[in-house]
Amino acid sequence: MPGIALVGIQWGDEGKGKVTDLLAERTDVVVRYQGGNNAGHTIVVEGERYALHLVPTGILYPHCTPVIGPGVVVNPQVLIEEMDNLESRGIDTRRLLLSGNAHVIMPYHLELDTVTERRLGNNRLGTTKRGIGPTYADKAARIGLRVQDLLDPKIFSEKLKVALKEKNLLLTRVYGRLPMDQKTIEVEYLAYGERLAPHIADTSSFVQRALDAGRAVMFEGAQATMLDLDHGTYPFVTSSNPIAGGACAGAGVGPRDIERVIGIAKAYCTRVGSGPFPSEADPADAEILVEAGAEYGTTTGRKRRCGWFDAVAARYAARLNTLTELVITKLDVLSQFESVKVCVAYEYEGERYEEFPPHQTIFNKCRPIFEELPGWGDDLTTARSLDDLPKEARAYLEALESLAGVPVSWASVGPGRDQIVALRETA
Ligand code: IMP
Repeated sequence: MPGIALVGIQWGDEGKGKVTDLLAERTDVVVRYQGGNNAGHTIVVEGERYALHLVPTGILYPHCTPVIGPGVVVNPQVLIEEMDNLESRGIDTRRLLLSGNAHVIMPYHLELDTVTERRLGNNRLGTTKRGIGPTYADKAARIGLRVQDLLDPKIFSEKLKVALKEKNLLLTRVYGRLPMDQKTIEVEYLAYGERLAPHIADTSSFVQRALDAGRAVMFEGAQATMLDLDHGTYPFVTSSNPIAGGACAGAGVGPRDIERVIGIAKAYCTRVGSGPFPSEADPADAEILVEAGAEYGTTTGRKRRCGWFDAVAARYAARLNTLTELVITKLDVLSQFESVKVCVAYEYEGERYEEFPPHQTIFNKCRPIFEELPGWGDDLTTARSLDDLPKEARAYLEALESLAGVPVSWASVGPGRDQIVALRETA
């Protein structure tokens, strides 16, 4: 049974949780393959609102096994807190599996994320300050600590010593901070290891066995295509690969194990943090989108920057992820407008770009070319089928399909589980 990858195709916060919820009934295993607790999925199940950062959304469905794959970076304190929180709300977390190969976010990673951002001043990336970048940097430099190290006090102590030697120099000499104490970290982290031990497993082999047995596996991307380390708007990106291809490396499966790739996009566009954003709306329209769409970050509470649907970025994402379909979320939010804009191309120095530009300068300085479509005004939140949508809303979805070159399977019209419209029969 081939897997399904679920990826954001904009700058994150597309409402991936809603789609996971939609597919959960038919899903046996949900795997996170990248990122860490910089993510934030909000899911409403039976009227209860859950904001998950690290634990895969599969935890909310008793028949699903949630898996944190080797490509994820794990803050064990946050993971335990999130599990405790879920337990206190009656959710059984015993089935959660955690890869021993996943890297651990250490206290110095958190500190370094904060001080490097401060040092960058106006050039700062606007990270979530969760230690994501410094942890992936150490992984690549091969001085990271992995989840399995938490189970072996001797190895943990040796590896920590090597890392701390460098980190303490950096913290004290470059950033004027206090050094970190080896013993304190050891005591704290080895205790996390004991607590997490029953969950630590060879998750790659578990997932492969599930696929071989014909079970439905969903690879749940965090962040999104435009924040991809290799293909996003570098350096204003996250430090992992949210694209569908990242699921192979980050979960430990082969490319042929993923057959369906669902791209999630808002009916408009948002971005948190710094970086270019060609389809950003003018302040008045942006404010309407912020208020109507409650565009504040789940993780940091920051107000999101808002803009119109960017079809150039959508086409780029369709190609990078080999999308088989699209889900458009928050269509109801656009009911606020008399007409709705879509960015169909970019313009730079007199040249029109239909394709994502190959050079950063073009993307940084381009002007959006908008097409304006008639709005619908009506409240969409009670729509449950295509016939319930005003013709202008249907025309808008058709325009997105044709501009992105990918069929739209569903459009969501509100946060509730039932606030969804199916556009076509899906497998
Ligand atoms: P980091 O992932 O914390 O290093 O942050 C790098 C960039 O990715 C910043 O612009 C963040 O705002 C952005 N980012 C990280 N995680 C998310 C997310 O879940 N949604 C939206 N933006 C995110």
